[in-house]
Amino acid sequence: MNRLSGEVTGSVTNLAANEGASAETSAETSAGTRPAVGEPAIRARGLSRRFGDLLAVDGLDIDVAPRSIYGFLGPNGCGKTTTVRLLTGLLTPSAGEVTVLGHRLPAEAEVLKRRIGYMTQKFSLYEDLTVRENLRFVASIYGLPPRESRSRIAELLATYALERLQHQRAGSMSGGQRQRLSLAAAILHRPALLFLDEPTSAVDPENRRDFWERLFDLIDAGATILVSTHYMDEAERCHRLAILEAGRKCADGSPAELMAAMGARVLEVEGPGLRQLKSELIALPEILSAAQLGSRLRVLVSDEVAEPAAWLRALPQASGLTHIDPVRPSLEDVFVTCTGTGAGSDRGGPDTGSGSGRTADPAAEPIETLNHP
Ligand SMILES: Nc1ncnc2c1ncn2[C@@H]1O[C@H](COP(=O)(O)OP(=O)(O)O)[C@@H](O)[C@H]1O
Ligand SMILES: [Mg+2]
Repeated sequence: MNRLSGEVTGSVTNLAANEGASAETSAETSAGTRPAVGEPAIRARGLSRRFGDLLAVDGLDIDVAPRSIYGFLGPNGCGKTTTVRLLTGLLTPSAGEVTVLGHRLPAEAEVLKRRIGYMTQKFSLYEDLTVRENLRFVASIYGLPPRESRSRIAELLATYALERLQHQRAGSMSGGQRQRLSLAAAILHRPALLFLDEPTSAVDPENRRDFWERLFDLIDAGATILVSTHYMDEAERCHRLAILEAGRKCADGSPAELMAAMGARVLEVEGPGLRQLKSELIALPEILSAAQLGSRLRVLVSDEVAEPAAWLRALPQASGLTHIDPVRPSLEDVFVTCTGTGAGSDRGGPDTGSGSGRTADPAAEPIETLNHP
């Protein structure tokens, strides 16, 4: 049997194995330690994690409401996975306080592990096992009795459109099919809280949409979900999200709140010489970003400018423009104003610590974007 990912298999093992507790024991434990009504499912204050010289997670304050989807949005290397590992109890914080489902971490990490599901960033099931065999394996880790295991697996195969694939080996499945299997495995023990780390990075848009519908079904059934992503369209589906950059939270709120509090207005302009215009505009302090979309240039103008369209119209550089239209902000605009980076911005981001050991520079690897008309 070939272990595809030590991390993930490890996560299943870490989350549930070798505890010697039966599913019944776990259910009793869970019932006795639920957070009080109105308490957040996750509460973190000053959560930090250092790896040598690198502060990978830097003083995060997070509140996740029960029965909601909370997102971490940020580029590679910003600390999403590290934060998820801290919140699941798999990693010990260097500083800060965390309570998850009423359990203080790290002291109560072992109890918590039976109450959460964790879908890791890399596919973590066994490629050489079939769909059904993988689910049976996970059920055995959680100590489900045979009868309960059979009925739960049958239910999951039906819910996640895996019945037809149940005898197929996981290694031969498509990205979307694997992801449905991973989700089924992560919720097999009916966790109250589910962590999904970049769940749809290998999935096409149609399957991604389908996946999110399934997440809302889980919320409807009472679960709470924390999802990390670098896709704007995923972030927009969250009830609330935190924008992370270099281990820090630079904004949080609902997508609508974030857009309303952005501190900039968005204009789309059209005319000849847009490449030249763009480079001239981004040199102005009032312009936070300019990015071309087809034949239009999307320009973020600081709130300090009272009448952005008139102000832009009066600039000598803009004399050739045929259109200047105010448009609705998008989450990408929020990201750009918040971090100073983003797709299409030539300005680059704040120094995210060259020499800090980060694997990716957000400015060099812009996050995937979704633009609104
Ligand atoms: N175990 C580790 N040891 C040293 N550095 C780490 C470790 N895990 C993560 N990092 C570093 O911490 C930073 C954040 O990583 P990560 O949390 O994986 O980011 P993301 O999931 O947002 O891509 C990166 O610079 C990464 O190289
Ligand atoms: Mg990650």
